[in-house]
Amino acid sequence: MAAPRWVLACTLSDLAEQGAVALTLEHARVALFWHEGRPYAISNVCNHKGGPLAEGRVRGEYVLCPWHAWEYSVKTGKGPPGYDEETVPTYAVEVRGGEVWVNLEPATPRRKLEHPPHPLARKVQHEHHERPRVLGISTTAMDGDNPRFSASDHLLEHALEHARTDLGADTQLQRLRELSFRPCEGNYSKAARACTWPCAITERDPADQLTPVYEGIVHWADVVLIATPIRWGAPSSLYFKMIERMNCIQNQVTIAGRSLIERKVAAFIIMGGQDNIQSVAGQMLMFFGELGFQFPPFPFIAHSRGWDAEDMHRNVQAVQASASLRAGARELVARAIETSRHLHDPGHFERGGRKAGARARPE
Ligand code: FES
Repeated sequence: MAAPRWVLACTLSDLAEQGAVALTLEHARVALFWHEGRPYAISNVCNHKGGPLAEGRVRGEYVLCPWHAWEYSVKTGKGPPGYDEETVPTYAVEVRGGEVWVNLEPATPRRKLEHPPHPLARKVQHEHHERPRVLGISTTAMDGDNPRFSASDHLLEHALEHARTDLGADTQLQRLRELSFRPCEGNYSKAARACTWPCAITERDPADQLTPVYEGIVHWADVVLIATPIRWGAPSSLYFKMIERMNCIQNQVTIAGRSLIERKVAAFIIMGGQDNIQSVAGQMLMFFGELGFQFPPFPFIAHSRGWDAEDMHRNVQAVQASASLRAGARELVARAIETSRHLHDPGHFERGGRKAGARARPE
């Protein structure tokens, strides 16, 4: 048994006043808690991703890690019932006069259970697919029980149909409105390493339904086609809800030096009753560029009737009647597939045109 190594940690009054104190004592990272009128000490390093337990919220005898809410007893270092094989070290504590002393030889050890990796965590293959894979993501919000015509969905579905039937592609369509998924917890703002791949919400909450979107974007697709309406001069609210959850893809570049997205292509369909196309396109290009996506020549098609177009029912008619917008959607997906092929085989490139898409013209 190792010899005790007692060190002065803090004053009793400081701990009682603050409730929890984080200390590094001779390289040991210790979380001291004031609980039920006495001090307790456990490791300040969470078993999951190293979150600082002293900053967590205490519920009963359990402290919730501030990063992703794993729980540990401040008395025993054990997880709650059912998870009590998962433990962080505990340290003996003594009160001497008005001081708190800690024995840095752990009284109980750290035990990390093997957790099977989430399926998304598998190695990313940046390989070429003989049949190009095109993932469409619809971001328009809609009541599924009472659907309406969506200009952005209309063109997205048309592009996917063309990719499937004329360009030999495999296609998938994910409609965000049909997926129940939680908003981003902003883990990145707590600490860069708190924002994990796969997303901590995805790992913890089997009911969260963003997994097929992650799967499609990171593992499956060669081309991602994102369709959005313009809402108050910006992409849709569901678009933003989705991309906030994609911080965990982007931050792998900054914290782990690896890009999950390589040699993939993104392109955009932007449909607005009113204006701000360039701003919406700029935002989408910036974000998907930051994820590591490449873009085809002329990476979006868009349509808007302008700021003073208050007669939105006419916009629907214009889009439904427009052969040129449908041609634009077909050409966009063709350019995106072409660019994808070129990224895997730089010798392969054909010039794609951009004849249509700027204006809705009746057939
Ligand atoms: S729950 Fe502690 S680091 Fe994830």
